[in-house]
This record gives sequence, structure tokens and C-alpha cells, in this order.
Amino acid sequence: SRKLWLDVDVGVDDAQGLMLALAHADTSIVGISAVHGNVDVRKVALNIARILTLCDRIDVPFHCGADEPLTAAAMDASFFHGLDGLGDVPATFPAYSDLKLAAAPGHAAVHLAHAVGEHEGELTIVATGPLTNIALACKLCEDLPSKVGRLVVMGGAEAAGNVTPTAEYNFHCDPESAQLVLRKIPQTLLVTWDCTIKHALEWSWVDAWLSKPGAKATFMRDVMAKSMAYEQQREPGVGWIACDPLAVALAVCDDALLESEPKHCVVETKGTLTRGMSVFQSPGGKAALKANVLLVKSICMARFAALLDAATD
Ligand code: BDR
Ligand code: CA
Repeated sequence: SRKLWLDVDVGVDDAQGLMLALAHADTSIVGISAVHGNVDVRKVALNIARILTLCDRIDVPFHCGADEPLTAAAMDASFFHGLDGLGDVPATFPAYSDLKLAAAPGHAAVHLAHAVGEHEGELTIVATGPLTNIALACKLCEDLPSKVGRLVVMGGAEAAGNVTPTAEYNFHCDPESAQLVLRKIPQTLLVTWDCTIKHALEWSWVDAWLSKPGAKATFMRDVMAKSMAYEQQREPGVGWIACDPLAVALAVCDDALLESEPKHCVVETKGTLTRGMSVFQSPGGKAALKANVLLVKSICMARFAALLDAATD
């Protein structure tokens, strides 16, 4: 089975991605790392504990990682994800005191670097938050890029961003880390904001998904209520933009990817209007640019929907 490491800033859609991976029979989760992003990293770690408890998977090790970007101050997206990162519905969760697990000691980046070495060539990393932990792991272990199996990232934007006119949230939070990781790790599979809009889930599908019986579907319904209301108001015709589970689906299932394009991608770190912007160029040309990413263009929606549906069975 595929060996997977998830680096997350849970986050409503991170939770969906995590549950998708936990439900996928052919995937063995080696570890999970928490990173700052949507909410404070300690809240992210608590949310991982909540999900592992809900899914009866307290065997999976998880670790607390970076509490802020490499150089900038931490950001926050609680207006969308809730103050606790999971929609502010405490009654839905096991009481804090009932959570039987906590993050394992040691920094997540250290554990990640170690896991890549231990599973050389075999570990798929999927990153659905700012790339700070991955950047730190690259710094700790200089041959990590040659030892990692594959990196799948949700981040970047081709046409317009979702947090500024030019930048997507994960890249905007920590552009220095995003640039470092894309420079170091070859052939990163990149799911951009544009790609996630193109593959949004129809509201009718979401309604049916959330109406299923059982604890996991109920959890998902409660956790999504706030962000779903927000999206229905902001983008009524688009559907649920399932950013992070798309990246996780590609990480666990090769058949889900229909089309990708090799590109040279750099991340702007300096501009006041463009910080965190991802700039794509075709490889080759006069400058002999090398492709460092595989830009995801098309995903099999039926395959994706089936994987996500299984997450709440
Ligand atoms: C990304 O930003 C976060 O708020 C989401 O969890 C997702 O990873 C989308 O831009
Ligand atoms: Ca995320």
C-alpha cells in the first residue's frame, strides 16, 4: 500500500482531506504534521486529535510543527474555518478531556525528515497548508529532495488569487517556504486555486453527501455549516471548492489525475501587491527553464467524489 505523510493546517477542507486518506484502504499513513495557517498550530494539532478520535485511528502518530512562517508573522483564516478551525461547533466533538491522544514530542519537521529517510523513495507527502514544515525539513536534511517519493501540494494560483488579487492563501502565508520547496523538490504535483474552482463539487452532491447517516457524516455536516454558508453567499453558482481533499485524492490514487502540464514555477516573495504569487512559465526556451512542477489541469470527478464519499462511511 502507498505510504503517506500529511502536512495540514486543519481547517475544514484539511479535515476532509485527512478523513479521505484515513478511509482509503490502500494507504498507510506514516505520520501527520501540524502547521500554522488557517488557525494557530496548537489548535491544528487538537483538530488532528479530534479527527483521529472520530475515525477511531488513534494509532496514527502526529506532531506539532511550525507555529509561524519562516520570516513573516502568522496569518489566520478563522473568518472562514471558525475560531477553532473546525466551524466552532464544540458540541460535535468529544470533550477536550476525553481526547486520549496528544501530539508526539519533537518538532514535526524533524519527524518528517526522519520518515523520508526511513522510507526512502517510497513516501508521498501531501501538503495542504503553508509549506513551512516542508521547507524546514529540506533544511534539516539536504538529501530529502532526492529521497522523497512524491510531493503533492495544494497552493498557488494561475489567474487570480483567493486572498489577494495575485496570491492563493497557502503560498501567501509563507512565500519564502513555498519558493524554497518548489526550488528544491523536483516534479511537485501542484493543485492550484484555479484547479480547485474548476473541480468544485455541486451543491446537490454535497447535500446528499452530508445527509448520510452516521457519526462521520454528522461531524462533516456540523463542521462545514459555517464555511458552506460563506461559500454559498460568495460563489453561489460554483459549488463547494474542495481544495485540500483534491490534493489528497491525487496523493492516494494515481488514476484520479487525468491531465497535468510540466511547468517552471517560482513564487514571488517581494512585491507588495504580488507577495505569494505563483508565476508559471513553459520549460525550455532561451533561458532553458527546467520544469519543477506538474501543474494539475484535470481530475476525474467521479473518482474524486467516490473517494470523498468514502471518507464519511
Ligand atoms: C487553502 O487555504 C486554506 O484556507 C485551505 O485550507 C486551503 O488549504 C486554499 O487556498
Ligand atoms: Ca489547508
